[in-house]
Amino acid sequence: MDYLLVCSNCGINYKSDYKKQICNSCNGLLAVKYKQNINNRLIKNNEIHSFWDFEELLPKSNYKHYELGNTKLIKTDEKNLYFKLEIENPTRSFKDRGSVIEVAKAVEYGYDKIACASTGNMAYSIAYYAKLYGIKSKIFISNNANKDKVKYIRETHDADITKVDGDFNMALKIAEQYAEREHAFLAGDYCYRMEGQRTIAYELARQIEDVSNIIIPVGNATLLSGVLKAEKEMFDAKIIKKMPKIIGVEAERCAPLYKAFMNSSKVIYEKPNTKADAIAVGYPTFGEQSIELLKQYKGLFVAVSDQEMIKEQNEFYNNYGLIAEMAGVAAIAAFKKLKKKLKGKSIAIISGGNI
Ligand SMILES: Cc1ncc(COP(=O)(O)O)c(C=O)c1O
Repeated sequence: MDYLLVCSNCGINYKSDYKKQICNSCNGLLAVKYKQNINNRLIKNNEIHSFWDFEELLPKSNYKHYELGNTKLIKTDEKNLYFKLEIENPTRSFKDRGSVIEVAKAVEYGYDKIACASTGNMAYSIAYYAKLYGIKSKIFISNNANKDKVKYIRETHDADITKVDGDFNMALKIAEQYAEREHAFLAGDYCYRMEGQRTIAYELARQIEDVSNIIIPVGNATLLSGVLKAEKEMFDAKIIKKMPKIIGVEAERCAPLYKAFMNSSKVIYEKPNTKADAIAVGYPTFGEQSIELLKQYKGLFVAVSDQEMIKEQNEFYNNYGLIAEMAGVAAIAAFKKLKKKLKGKSIAIISGGNI
């Protein structure tokens, strides 16, 4: 769809040929605003063919139609719990839905390199699409990232990876400086990625009716914000009858949004101390925004322990024969914690499977 970019801080508008995802005037985060409403026909078509069925609902670009998305929804052994298997994506996480947009945009704007900060999965996904689209990738990876993941990405997808002596937020600062200095497109937890994550909600609307709760692991809260945006679009267009409750899940040992939400306070940076590397983000990019949205739409944040995630990883393997990383099963741990209070159908987003 045709769109504008709007700064969520100062309100300035940019045309879609603006080549960044951050406001030039105040450094605020930009948001994509479409010029038309979403097309009901695209979502209500009951046969999913591919992710690209939703192309018309994404920011216009020159996409190459490699297969992704269209992931399975499975009924679980727990009453009223379903899994959305994002581990079925090409690089085994939901990240591909957003990376494909960022890489296509980088190419459209004439960049020959794309840079990002990552805890691991975004690096894999950006490197994968950069190689497919024929541009270089430069990744700044946090010190807690899994060594095997990093080795694999470097060897198979020709990524230039620098390991940063610090956490995700430190890697992010360095990636921003690099992109500015070396004329690379800065990818990451910004608006184009959020637009791609919306497609999870559209797929769900085709796969199941009357969802009451969607449980989503949270690092920078881009996945959560994208799903919420799409649910709101579909509710406004009368495609769904009610807004599902959105439940964000953090690791207890890195839970800045859960704490700010519970204490009704500002988000305070927290040094990550969890083994769930993919959600070890001390100061989430979309943190304040997502807290406001969850308050508005009656959602909530919950925190789960590393032990709870490890237990769910084992059960996920033993019961379903599937492999997921700790963050990937955080939503199952959250469901078990909350299940007495939850009514109706719940979806746990199984976000990633790279261990
Ligand atoms: C497997 C997995 N789950 C959840 C998340 C959190 O997503 P977001 O940063 O959009 O909140 C990430 C982010 O890296 C991830 O890799």
